[in-house]
Amino acid sequence: MSLQDPIILGIESSCDETAAAVVACGARVLSSVVASQIDIHRKYGGVVPELASREHLRQIVPVVREAIGQAGIELKDVDAVAVTQGPGLVGALLVGMTYGKALAMSLGKPLIGVNHLAGHVHAVFLEAHMTGGKIPELPAVCLIVSGGHTMLYRVSSRRPAVDIPALFEYERIGGTRDDAAGEAYDKVARMLALGYPGGPIVDQLAAHGDPAAIRFGTPKMTGNPHDFSFSGIKTAVLYHLQKHKELEPEIAARKEALARGERSAAALKSLCTQPTLDLIASFQHAVVEDLVTRTIRAAQESSVKSILVTGGVAANRELRTRFEAEAKRVGMDAYFPSRALSTDNAAMIAAAGYPSYANGLFDSSTLNADPNLPLAKSA
Ligand code: KG4
Ligand code: ZN
Repeated sequence: MSLQDPIILGIESSCDETAAAVVACGARVLSSVVASQIDIHRKYGGVVPELASREHLRQIVPVVREAIGQAGIELKDVDAVAVTQGPGLVGALLVGMTYGKALAMSLGKPLIGVNHLAGHVHAVFLEAHMTGGKIPELPAVCLIVSGGHTMLYRVSSRRPAVDIPALFEYERIGGTRDDAAGEAYDKVARMLALGYPGGPIVDQLAAHGDPAAIRFGTPKMTGNPHDFSFSGIKTAVLYHLQKHKELEPEIAARKEALARGERSAAALKSLCTQPTLDLIASFQHAVVEDLVTRTIRAAQESSVKSILVTGGVAANRELRTRFEAEAKRVGMDAYFPSRALSTDNAAMIAAAGYPSYANGLFDSSTLNADPNLPLAKSA
């Protein structure tokens, strides 16, 4: 690392991860520390906003300190502080925002407010820079798919994306009208007593079931064809369970196993009958096919060459395989961040803040958290 390389400290606290990272030139991750609150929210089956804020307060100082230490720098070496401004839980965002602001002011360094969703988009480019992989060609269509969001954007830039300080422009193409895809995973996992969060365990168990066993219809929607809806499939799983009372004893057995702390895929799989594994595989298949089909269609209509898939659910193996195959079929390339960069982290926030830094676009100390901060206007 040369001392001339601009160094950005990123801070992220929009949901249930307190994270800090140090990134040089918007492309090299020198450290990335994530303190997850999963253990705190697990017993509620979802994120409890008050508990999240309290935990962020406890974690923010040690997490930032650890990120600085792991990067082998001192706070005075930081050239700017990039902090998530929104969207997210207001109390959670305020912790990172207030701390980031105070830090920037006390260091006399610029403050950069970053949209969390822009962070997810930049995670894909950061991955390519870190691994020496191909940089996605712009314009691209980006699917952001997580526990809080399922959104489709057109991403463009006046400069090629290989020029790292390129400022991106975003156009909203579509989004979920109800649940986010990750939320559907978490709710279905809760109904089936598979633990929290549901995505990783459903991902693993789905490999052992028949995805064609149960047909879940595609959601019928009027209006924007690029919108998503996942509440119907969640309700379909609920009706299926109400109809198949014979599945109740194994659900009770899994609840007991979870209460004993037995939450590994192997432990839970041994408590799943084949019809349950088939239900899990069919649910995942329906969600994945809907995400892939609508995104590919949007990419074709937008005449782009690259498809970016990011956010927690982008870690899903079936989703990646299907996107790769379908993108290839239509002559496009699909790009994903690594698992660590797919879920919430602060390296993506620092990377997203770098183009603003390079272009001298700084925020003042009046910057405030915005729980509904939009990434772009609708197309
Ligand atoms: O991006 P993220 O860490 O936080 C939010 O901004 O929501 O995403 C967390 C979500 C959870 O709903 C989790 O169940 C889901 O991502 N998830 C997955 C997988 N890993 C995490 N969903 C499907 N398959 C996975 N492998
Ligand atoms: Zn996120």
